Amino acid sequence: MNTPTSPRIIVAIDGFSSSGKSTMARRLASAVGYRYIDSGAMYRAVTLYALEHDLCGPGGEGLDADGLAAALPGITIDFAPQPDGSQHTLLDGRDVESEIRLLRVSEAVSPVAALPAVRRRLTAMQQELGRGRGIVMDGRDIGTTVFPDAELKIYLDASAETRARRRFTELMAKGAGEVSYEEVLANVVHRDEIDRTRAESPLRRADDAIGLDNSSMTLEEQDRWLLERFDHTIQSLRR
Ligand code: CDP
Repeated sequence: MNTPTSPRIIVAIDGFSSSGKSTMARRLASAVGYRYIDSGAMYRAVTLYALEHDLCGPGGEGLDADGLAAALPGITIDFAPQPDGSQHTLLDGRDVESEIRLLRVSEAVSPVAALPAVRRRLTAMQQELGRGRGIVMDGRDIGTTVFPDAELKIYLDASAETRARRRFTELMAKGAGEVSYEEVLANVVHRDEIDRTRAESPLRRADDAIGLDNSSMTLEEQDRWLLERFDHTIQSLRR
């Protein structure tokens, strides 16, 4: 069990788009009293900034890498805790939580996230957020680049169809407008490809990460699986 005297660790959860990383990370953080950081939300916020400032067009076309790099030092990204225990992403103080989840942002985020200047800036911000440990962070490169020394690393996968179905259901529940399952699947497959093949910090499983395919797991089974690993890691640090 996690007690006040337990060592505080970093839990890194990486994996493909819509593999359920954020749900898994959020639920673990709340169960063990850690802070949850959604690193993807930070990449999405920078992407929204680029779209709004004409630094990139739909789908990431015409991305002005130099313009965005020059703007980065002036961009602030924060997380505001909500009464229901969730947190909203703030871009320069503005609540952009809903906007950054729209397909318009999903379609432009991977090219933006492939820019070395963007990765450097966000990696530094993420490392700062994890300075006191006691966090669960999810993303693509948390166990490999941001926190190679994380005590517990998970690499999550599920089939592209399963992931697209989950994301489509989520978008429908939010009333995100006219989006088809096929469009969502195409976006998931396209982002996977860019995230896996980019030069800087590509998505890959860290050598010491534990792999999990959660295609046919319920949320409760997944929670139990992760809590067991968490407790095991804490116990092994006490020895
Ligand atoms: O929600 P979903 O899993 O589909 O994606 P996300 O975690 O919100 O991340 C959105 C995009 O940001 C990804 O497709 C990556 O291109 C990028 N990203 C990244 O490059 N590195 C991270 N640590 C997190 C996200």
